[in-house]
Amino acid sequence: MTEFEPFLDRDEIHRLVADIADRISGDYKNNDLVLIGVLKGSFIFLSDLARQLTIPAEIDFIGASSYGAGAQSSENIRLTKPLQIDIRNKHIIIIEDIIDTGLTLAYMVNYIKSFEPSNLKTCALLDKRERRQVDIDIDYVGRIVEKGFLVGYGLDYAERYRNLPELYCLKF
Ligand code: IMP
Ligand code: MG
Repeated sequence: MTEFEPFLDRDEIHRLVADIADRISGDYKNNDLVLIGVLKGSFIFLSDLARQLTIPAEIDFIGASSYGAGAQSSENIRLTKPLQIDIRNKHIIIIEDIIDTGLTLAYMVNYIKSFEPSNLKTCALLDKRERRQVDIDIDYVGRIVEKGFLVGYGLDYAERYRNLPELYCLKF
């Protein structure tokens, strides 16, 4: 039977998000900021983060699909939703829920760069180090995670559990 081990509760998540929002609000005071969320996992994190910023920001989403119906990363990343707004000469932060191998973020960084933004940074609520395959900078990180498969707060296992308000580590 699958068990759910509590990982971060609502208050802990709130504090991590508030801290990232403070840093971003300070760093982008004088810039045209665009937050680009990577669907679907980032949708809750991005909506909380955006509401805690004290500066204006445009918002868009891009879609990538890297996982099938299980917990195994596939190296086959597919763009499932393209960027819609014009980001040329703007300041971009790509928002991810969790970085695992780094392949999705590396793909998205390349994709976003092709639109010639003036600046591009990356942000992830969770930075899972165990299976990293590409050396990639994450400019804003909520929490480093050594290992495990996490669900809740937008993160899924086979499309389930995204709507849990807390984060859990799944024990298979
Ligand atoms: P990567 O390309 O291996 O870095 O995987 C990135 C994507 O896989 C993330 O944006 C998540 O959507 C998903 N993912 C990676 N680890 C987890 C996890 O522990 N729980 C849920 N989704 C995960
Ligand atoms: Mg994701």
